Amino acid sequence: MAAVRFSVLVLLLVQQVFAVYRDCSDFDSLKNCNECIRCGGHWCNDPNEEQRCTTMRYDNWCTGKQEKLKFLTNVDEDGTFVQPKYRVRTLTIGMDDRFDISYPSKSKEPKVEIVVNTTQTSNFQVSNKTSCYDSTCTTTIKANPETNFCAANGGISEYFHVKLSVEGIKEEVVTKFHVPCACACSAKVEERSPVCNGRGSLSCGVCTCNEGWKGAFCETPICEVKRGDVPCTDSSRDNIECSGNGVCGPCDKCECFTDREGSRYFDKDNYCADICMTINDCDDCFLNPIPGRCQTCHFALFRQNYNETLMTQKDDFNRHVWVRCNGSIDECYYEYAAMRDEYDETFFMVTKSCDPVQERRAGAVSLTLPIVLGVIALVVAAAATVGYMMWKNRPPPVPMADPMYQNIDAEDCTGENPLYKPPTSSFKNPTYGKW
Ligand SMILES: *[C@@H]1O[C@H](CO)[C@@H](O)[C@H](O)[C@H]1NC(C)=O
Ligand SMILES: *[C@@H]1O[C@H](CO)[C@@H](O)[C@H](O)[C@H]1NC(C)=O
Ligand SMILES: *[C@@H]1O[C@H](CO)[C@@H](O)[C@H](O)[C@H]1NC(C)=O
Ligand SMILES: *[C@@H]1O[C@H](CO)[C@@H](O)[C@H](O)[C@H]1NC(C)=O
Repeated sequence: MAAVRFSVLVLLLVQQVFAVYRDCSDFDSLKNCNECIRCGGHWCNDPNEEQRCTTMRYDNWCTGKQEKLKFLTNVDEDGTFVQPKYRVRTLTIGMDDRFDISYPSKSKEPKVEIVVNTTQTSNFQVSNKTSCYDSTCTTTIKANPETNFCAANGGISEYFHVKLSVEGIKEEVVTKFHVPCACACSAKVEERSPVCNGRGSLSCGVCTCNEGWKGAFCETPICEVKRGDVPCTDSSRDNIECSGNGVCGPCDKCECFTDREGSRYFDKDNYCADICMTINDCDDCFLNPIPGRCQTCHFALFRQNYNETLMTQKDDFNRHVWVRCNGSIDECYYEYAAMRDEYDETFFMVTKSCDPVQERRAGAVSLTLPIVLGVIALVVAAAATVGYMMWKNRPPPVPMADPMYQNIDAEDCTGENPLYKPPTSSFKNPTYGKW
């Protein structure tokens, strides 16, 4: 007999040797199908069901969406001497199985030996009781897996075997107790599930949210950094809060439009400020007509001569790379185009100016190609009529270091975007103290 492979057990009461920590006292807190059934609960795959894991199924609970565990077909095989000889049963955690084994016996107290083996832990109970009558004995076996039976790696088909032998009888009784230790649904994961608002994966009806989202349906953003100054919460004021280039989104932040001319430059961390607003911050640079880096600007801003070909450049999303802007400095009206490259360097080229020196440079192309200029003029005019150029003359965004910015504190906070002012025809904005 394969005594070496079996561990002989007298009574397997609470065997804590391979104990798995599992708190089965609070079914509400079991948020995972495997954990639920390992505690002997029933699981609901319906994301809208409040009670997902329960010991007692009640009416109308989780109609049609209960997780079905794998159950093996019952097997009862009779032997020559012992009845039954082979048996298969499926047990769920906490469930009892009791059955009688009868066999002929001369002794009134036959010696019964029970050995077990298991694919999981030995946290299951087996007990026996024998009674004899008229040279026939009946041994009643009771077996049940406990809440710490399943190991962390438990699958949908785990087992424990109970083998019983009676002294003097060659036939052995083997019972295979199949115990599901995992839910079949756990193996099915739907990434970016619509149930989870596309922000998480769905398995067994439970959303596992992507970073930055929480809630049963990943509906709530986890807001780490809030805008301290002007929370963008009033959707009726979207245009003002987000510079007209976006709407108030999750976490009180602006969600910038992505499909508009110039949207490739909308700055989500800065009220969706567009590139014209950014460049306006360095107006001084317009006064010096020499191409190259502008030394008075606090970011990398380069001036270059107007090149009409560049205006047709588009990015992968079919958005113009160069964006048209205008503004006035000391009553001098400018039109210019701007772009920012992947190194965060900003370029601009003046297309029109009241300053004759700048006008000459801007018009350099036109002197050699008057026909081209005519075409440009037409394009510009057409674009203007369809409202193509949205870039109004906006005051410059105020850099963090600017004392004006720091003055915007709680008591005189008006709830206004400090960057946004309704379009005016001049840069001479009274709140901007550079002039
Ligand atoms: C456990 O016992 C059953 C029944 O005797 C046997 O078929 C199976 O091979 C045993 N498994 C192991 C791992 O010993
Ligand atoms: C089976 O029954 C005998 C006799 O009552 C007892 O001594 C033994 O501990 C029992 N074995 C198990 C595994 O319950
Ligand atoms: C204008 O830009 C295009 C594209 O970069 C370039 O090929 C062309 O030489 C430029 N024209 C002038 C006049 O600089
Ligand atoms: C600046 O451009 C916008 C549209 O692009 C236009 O509506 C506005 O009149 C221009 N500003 C001035 C002062 O011409």
